[in-house]
Amino acid sequence: MCGIIAITTQSKKNVSKMITTGLKRLEYRGYDSVGIATINNGKIHTLKDKGTIEKVDNALNLEQLEGTIGIGHTRWATHGPPNRENAHPHGDCTGEITVVHNGIIENYLKLKQKLRESGHSFISETDTEVLAHLVEEELKHPELAPTVKEAFRRVISQIEGSYAITLIHAKEPETIFLARKDSPLVIGIQDDTKFAASDIPAFLEYTKKVIVLKDGEIATLTPKSVYIEKNGYRVQPKPFIVSWTAESAQKSGYPHFMLKEIHEQPIALRNTLTINSESVHSAVTKILEAERIIILACGTSYHAGLTGYHQFQRILNKKPVYPVIASEYDSYSHLIDNETAIIAVSQSGETLDVMKALSPAKKDGASIIAITNVVDSSIPRLSNIPLYTRAGPEIGVAATKTHTAQVALLARIALQLQHEIGTLDKSEFDSMLQILNEETPSITRKIIQQNEFKAKRLAERISSRKSAYFLARGPNLPIALEGALKIKEISYIHAEAFPAGESKHGPIAIVEPSFPIIMIAPNDATAKKLLNNAEEMKARGGYIISVTEKDHSIIQRSDSAFILPTSPLHLINPISYILPLQMLAYYAAVTRGVDPDKPKNLAKTVTVE
Ligand code: M6R
Repeated sequence: MCGIIAITTQSKKNVSKMITTGLKRLEYRGYDSVGIATINNGKIHTLKDKGTIEKVDNALNLEQLEGTIGIGHTRWATHGPPNRENAHPHGDCTGEITVVHNGIIENYLKLKQKLRESGHSFISETDTEVLAHLVEEELKHPELAPTVKEAFRRVISQIEGSYAITLIHAKEPETIFLARKDSPLVIGIQDDTKFAASDIPAFLEYTKKVIVLKDGEIATLTPKSVYIEKNGYRVQPKPFIVSWTAESAQKSGYPHFMLKEIHEQPIALRNTLTINSESVHSAVTKILEAERIIILACGTSYHAGLTGYHQFQRILNKKPVYPVIASEYDSYSHLIDNETAIIAVSQSGETLDVMKALSPAKKDGASIIAITNVVDSSIPRLSNIPLYTRAGPEIGVAATKTHTAQVALLARIALQLQHEIGTLDKSEFDSMLQILNEETPSITRKIIQQNEFKAKRLAERISSRKSAYFLARGPNLPIALEGALKIKEISYIHAEAFPAGESKHGPIAIVEPSFPIIMIAPNDATAKKLLNNAEEMKARGGYIISVTEKDHSIIQRSDSAFILPTSPLHLINPISYILPLQMLAYYAAVTRGVDPDKPKNLAKTVTVE
């Protein structure tokens, strides 16, 4: 997730200053590098570098760029580490075209190869740079692309993936070219100034008149006009006036970042699952070469790792797999040698407990596969194979979209493992991969939409309770652990998760009428025994909330149930089943008057031991 802004004006003098201010309002979308470009005297002028907007502005003085048209970008790295070369905007070979982009061009490697063969040279490792070169290439054929607008149209028809693009050309010094698919892009309208941005706060201080560009639409902006088309036909836009404050607009209308991030999960999962097969194959090769596997993480990332553990140990048969909480690493350090592969899972890539474990492990010869969200952070830099979830920046302290993205990436590795050890043949693998990639985002969207109201109502009910239990069995236990952690950290209701069979060995003693018991109950091998555990709790007056699927007998034993669609692939279950629990925690916090984005005593990134 990156932030984009573009402005074309007839009346304002310092466009670069407006762009810099706009970028500061978009910084929540990404903050590892920044850049702006303007057109002045028929030439493109660019300033960009690694770092926050404040840092880059202090060093380069972004506002020195003159011109009445410009584009800017704040980056959240996906392709290539954060450095000056990979910072946007990106240009073509002639220096006449420059572009900024948010999203992922999935077929960029193929396009880049073709462009190289036609003589183009590239400066960055990004997917974005191909866009500038593609427009340059199209313009070499005036019989097909007589104008920049036509060249831009033709380029958009060649790219696959998700994108919000803004492009300018030195020979058309008043026009901004835009395109959108699955990444947000909004247009701001003021008399003789037009804006385009990833989000409204970028231009809110100048105008509240907005058009939301829709998927598949291409637009051109000049200071006095907005032209939008789709599939070659002109679209009549419907501008509206926003009544937001800059703060609420940053959250795209959601009251909290946590809720926004819960709703961003379909796109975060889609982006994560576009990971290229070679990276997954390299990780799988390391796993298969090793004698033992350690999955190392903390908190929510540990719960994702624990899900991975259940999947891997089944696939790897007798090869030992150990899930290890990073702060407990010392108890496992005797296992580490050059035949060990460590899978380190960390959203931030900076968690000190994980780093403190990885340093000695590396010295002892272990291979390290890192699964992180922040590109080029310390943990992937320590690793042999960095793999990235592409969930975009997560602002809420409670991990939501990054957790499901981690689980999705581990599921992707699990599939590849089965294929490479021969338990899935090529056609089985291909069809399961297609299900994972295509169904996961859509099931997630459906579950969030269909269960939010129920989560809110149940949260109101349990919010007056002091404690809750989260029960599950076998591979579903990590979901219970994560559900309990979410409610604890966000709403401050004490919650415990344990294997349901353990109830009778102690915990059932404190169950009394109305005690909330949340049961994770897919219709799988754990179903029958879990039903008995539900009976035990019900008999003591427990208030049973099950997360289940239709036809599971637990529904009759439950006081309330989230009934989820039956998953076409068991690997998707740990993603589906956590969604209602994230929403339950969020609404419990809101009902109790607690700010879910800033829980007390917690930090987003824990850099102390
Ligand atoms: O950045 P990491 O994934 O390494 O962070 C680990 C934990 O601190 C983190 O998952 C924490 O438990 C979550 N913020 C909880 O929602």
